[in-house]
Amino acid sequence: MLKGKNAVITGARRGIGRATVEKFASYGANVWACARKQDDDFETDMRRIAEKYSVNIWPLYFDVTDEVQIKQAIQLIKRQKVSADSLVNMAGMVSESASFQMTSIEKMKMVFDTNFFSTTILTQYIARLMARQNSGSIINIASVAGIDGEPAQYEYATSKAALIGATKHLARELSVNNIRVNAVAPGIIDTRMGNKIEEHLKEHILNKVIMGRIGKPEEVAEVVAFLASDRSSYITGQIIRVDGGM
Ligand SMILES: NC(=O)c1ccc[n+]([C@@H]2O[C@H](COP(=O)([O-])OP(=O)(O)OC[C@H]3O[C@@H](n4cnc5c(N)ncnc54)[C@H](OP(=O)(O)O)[C@@H]3O)[C@@H](O)[C@H]2O)c1
Repeated sequence: MLKGKNAVITGARRGIGRATVEKFASYGANVWACARKQDDDFETDMRRIAEKYSVNIWPLYFDVTDEVQIKQAIQLIKRQKVSADSLVNMAGMVSESASFQMTSIEKMKMVFDTNFFSTTILTQYIARLMARQNSGSIINIASVAGIDGEPAQYEYATSKAALIGATKHLARELSVNNIRVNAVAPGIIDTRMGNKIEEHLKEHILNKVIMGRIGKPEEVAEVVAFLASDRSSYITGQIIRVDGGM
């Protein structure tokens, strides 16, 4: 499905990001696997995936909130002189639960920095490369919280809502360059982040899930891979929920 394509995936070290690297590799894509810090275990893991599926996986290190580091990573991508066919904005964070009244503006800015502004900056750089090649697919990882809201997670829900707005906007603005932009909105997924939710809140959310279970990272990765592929060639500006029915 992705044979010969090259993808940039952030948040690649664990959770849904790591599952997405493996899914893309299994469909034949080469991947710039982006993690925050250099890490031998990560490199071993990426090498193992690359060998298993006979693709290239190039580890790249940058903190998504650091534009200088992003620029250095973009230089490395450019130096390889291959197309950047898709960008998966996966890296994200959630802060400690708190009521709206107790949410400080500093905390909001920190979450927006990671979940929204960093995505904007990286997307600007990669979209420039995609515009030159007149093709590309950008997939933002939002959340059902950005559509429905989430108790005690004001800054997280609003940062993901902003990402959804950006997705719809950019689908229109970048279509002249033949770049598609979509978002995937996961429900509750079995990762460190998904399991960070307080037990009573998790139970409350799971009670609303039609399928009655938590999702697997691979189930989200499958949809991301579809959106990166030419099989979704007539889909743009969409927010696809992967939430077991909520
Ligand atoms: N799990 C869920 O239930 C759920 C539901 C809806 C949406 N999502 C979204 O799905 C995406 C992946 O989350 P996950 O569940 O896989 O969570 P996770 O296991 O906590 O992984 C988050 C990833 O983001 C990276 N990251 C965070 N801040 C970063 C920064 N400043 N610079 C570089 N990398 C950074 C982390 O890197 P390190 O390994 O270096 O920390 C990690 O690889 C997120 O955008 C999240 O909001 C998750």
